Amino acid sequence: MATIKKHAVVIGAGTGGYPCAIRLGQLGVDAMLVEKDKPGGVCLNWGCIPSKALISATKLAHKASHASKMGLKFEQPEVDMKTMQGWKSGIVKKLTGGVKSLVKGNGCEYVTATAEFLDPHRVKLTYPGKKADDIVEAKHFIVATGSVPIQIPGFEIDQKRIVDSTGALEIDYIPEEMVCIGGGIIGLELGQTFQRLGTKLTVLEGLDRILGACDADTAQVVARQIKSDGGEIVTNAMATGWTERDGKAWVEFKTKDGEKREVSADVVLVAVGRRPVASGFGLEKTGVKVSDRGFIEVDDQLRTNVPHIFAVGDVVGGAMLAHKASHEGELVAEIVHGKNRVNDVRSIPNVVFTEPEIASAGLGEEEAKAAGHELKIGKFPFAASGRAMAIQETTGFVKVLTDAKDNRVLGIHIVGPEASDLISEGSLAIEMGAFAEDISLTIHPHPTLGEAVMEAAKHAIGEAVHVMNKS
Ligand code: NAI
Repeated sequence: MATIKKHAVVIGAGTGGYPCAIRLGQLGVDAMLVEKDKPGGVCLNWGCIPSKALISATKLAHKASHASKMGLKFEQPEVDMKTMQGWKSGIVKKLTGGVKSLVKGNGCEYVTATAEFLDPHRVKLTYPGKKADDIVEAKHFIVATGSVPIQIPGFEIDQKRIVDSTGALEIDYIPEEMVCIGGGIIGLELGQTFQRLGTKLTVLEGLDRILGACDADTAQVVARQIKSDGGEIVTNAMATGWTERDGKAWVEFKTKDGEKREVSADVVLVAVGRRPVASGFGLEKTGVKVSDRGFIEVDDQLRTNVPHIFAVGDVVGGAMLAHKASHEGELVAEIVHGKNRVNDVRSIPNVVFTEPEIASAGLGEEEAKAAGHELKIGKFPFAASGRAMAIQETTGFVKVLTDAKDNRVLGIHIVGPEASDLISEGSLAIEMGAFAEDISLTIHPHPTLGEAVMEAAKHAIGEAVHVMNKS
């Protein structure tokens, strides 16, 4: 067992940890990134990237079978799930391999091992295989251990009948029926992926609407789509257990009125949220404070109550999003290097890859009103966009919330084609403190979907040209 000295050790090579390590390397800090599993964390291996690969492939299949109005008749696409899964895995492999090269190429050491705190200044590294453990002593630690899916009683994950997002992403056949427990981001993104291939989808949501974190009007558009594609959404439904019968899983749930119902499925996806990983690696030996909900508590520099230990990403709470984690990781690298930085962001965009996509930046309507803003709201439907018509995706709208007193942009909510890409303009606008006029007077190229953002900003101030203004 050797004792290694480092300036900084990053624990976890997910989207919080690896950008932190890259930036530390770029800044010339003597740093080490420790990961027990594959590089890239949930996002690259079992989350964002593989799900988006499957989503885009199934969207293409769906689009091809609905192109006859455009004068294009395709045969019903033949779906080879095993090939699709292989293609998806190839993308994951390429990206995760890239992470290791980038970390090393930028001058940060990459180690495959399990890290465990021995005290606030030392971690033990246990390597896979027979290599003896090492101890690393460091001036700074960055905890980027992420989150794992929440499990619910009565639904033990076996990754066959009862799957979490990891298992759902490995399904290499088209299930006849799928039940999603939880009408949140994961349940709907993955549920609709299989729905596009012909699976009968039932969503059981405990609350009174799906996508509780999204603007209600945008969520409603997705709910309508799921239903018009033959799916069922049961709200106020609490799943209580399941039994195996006639070759199917029968999921039992209780409705608001206490009525007990059952629905059959070939596969049940449990997607009821994620919980932070703040235990199991000796954190309690450091004195770092963890909240009642299990998140590591940090200040506006992502510093814990133990000043040389930082934490970033899902483990500190807030939005559990890869881009938020990366931002925090890079910021902490600069602080560890000695720069004076604080985590001061106005907008963490939220993107949901449903059909149609939802994306938002800044405040929601209720949030803005609760903060004391009187609102002026502009809206532009994609049904009025020439580009949306040309790509046959006219469902949805852009909604811009502005402060009635000075037209400052407070929030942007989009549901519709390429919402995930369109939102970056909204996020920049909010981060820069833009007014509706800044967006409306910026020349947007024609014919593009981005014009819808400009038109919604114009609409907020009564200057829309392609929809009627409010009288
Ligand atoms: P979520 O928080 O989005 O949704 C979970 C849903 O399950 C909620 O609507 C909740 O009311 C419901 N629920 C909880 N317990 C239930 C029960 N017993 N029966 C029925 N419904 C129940 O969580 P999800 O979808 O698991 O996603 C986890 C995290 O991953 C999210 O915080 C999200 O930020 C992140 N994520 C982000 C993505 C993106 O940016 N596109 C994609 C996938 C995940």
